[in-house]
Amino acid sequence: NKGKYEHYMQKEIHEQPESLTTTMRGRLIRGGSCKAKTVLLGGLKDHLKTIRRSRRIVFIGCGTSYNAALAARPILEELSGIPVTMEIASDLLDRQGPIYREDTAVLVSQSGETADTLNALEYALENGALCVGVASTKAYTSQIVVMAMLALAIGGDLISSQERREAVIDGLFDLPSKLKEVLKLDQEMKDLAKLLIAEQSLLVFGRGYNYATALEGALKVKEVALMHSEGILAGEMKHGPLALVDETLPIFVIATRDACFSKQQSVIQQLHARKGRLIVMCTKGDAASVCVGGSCRVIEVPQAEDCLQPVINIVPLQLLAYHLTVLRGHNVDQPRNLAKSVTTQ
Ligand code: M6R
Repeated sequence: NKGKYEHYMQKEIHEQPESLTTTMRGRLIRGGSCKAKTVLLGGLKDHLKTIRRSRRIVFIGCGTSYNAALAARPILEELSGIPVTMEIASDLLDRQGPIYREDTAVLVSQSGETADTLNALEYALENGALCVGVASTKAYTSQIVVMAMLALAIGGDLISSQERREAVIDGLFDLPSKLKEVLKLDQEMKDLAKLLIAEQSLLVFGRGYNYATALEGALKVKEVALMHSEGILAGEMKHGPLALVDETLPIFVIATRDACFSKQQSVIQQLHARKGRLIVMCTKGDAASVCVGGSCRVIEVPQAEDCLQPVINIVPLQLLAYHLTVLRGHNVDQPRNLAKSVTTQ
C-alpha cells in the first residue's frame, strides 16, 4: 500500500524517521532511575566477551548492505579498538580469503536470502570464526543504526570512551527528527534532478565517515535512474579521477563537518581550479566556507554526531536518485534487470 505516495521508493525514503525509531526502540536506553545511557542487544549478550577478545572483526555483505557496514566501520573500530576489515561476500569466496578462529564475522543482509552472503557465512563458520548477523529492518539507514548500536555494545563500558558513547547514544536519539528535517530537501533535490536529467554520468566524492555515502549514493543513481555514477574516495582524487574533471561532468562532493572537513575544502578548491561543475553537500550554515573561489550549487543538511552523519547525508542522494528516475521515465519500483533479493551466485 503506497498510501499518499506515488511510488514505493518514495514511501520508503520518507518513512525513514519512523523506521529508525522502530530500530532503536527497546534497544537504546536513556534515563531511568540510574540515568544510564546504554544499549541492549539481546541476541548478542552471550557473545560479547568472545567478540571483545577477537583478533579482528570482518564485515561481510553485498551492495547496499556492504555500504552500510562500511559507514559503521569507523565507530566500531573507535569504540572496540579491534581492527575491522571489509569483505564483499563474492570476493571473499572468489579468493577463499583467510578467516580465522579468532575472527568475528558480522554478516550484513537486509533480506537474509542473498546467496553470496549465505555462502560466505558457511565459509566463515567452516573456518571457525564466531559469526553474528545484523538483522535490520528494510533500509540502509536502519542498518547503519543497528551497527552503531553493535559498536556501542562491543565497546562496553570503558571509562575512557564513556563521553563519546553517551554522545553517540544522544546522537542516535536525535536522528529521527534530523531525518525529518533533511527530508524537507525534497523539492530542492527535484530541482537538481531536472538539471541533471540528460547527463551521462555523475561522480560522488566522499571520505571518512562519508566514503560509504558516496558509494551508496552512486549505487542508487545507477540502480534506479539508470545513469552511470561512481562513488569515489576523495583521498584518491589525485591518483586518477582528477583527469575526468571538466566544465561539463557533474560532481557531487560531500563536505559536512567532521575531522576530514578541511581536506574536503581543499578537494573542492582543486576541483574549482579545474572548472569542475560542483554540487556540494555541507552542514547548515557552511555554504560560504565550502564554496570559496568558484561557483557551485550547495545542499545544506542538518549536523549529526560525526559517525551518524551518513544516516542524514544519504537522504538527499536517495531523493535525487528517485526524482532522476521518475523524470527520466524509468520504473522506480522495478529497476531494470534487478531481482528483489539475489538468491543465485
Ligand atoms: O538482502 P541483502 O542486504 O543481502 O542484499 C544485498 C544486495 O543485493 C542489496 O543490498 C542491493 O545492493 C540493493 N537492492 C540495492 O539497493
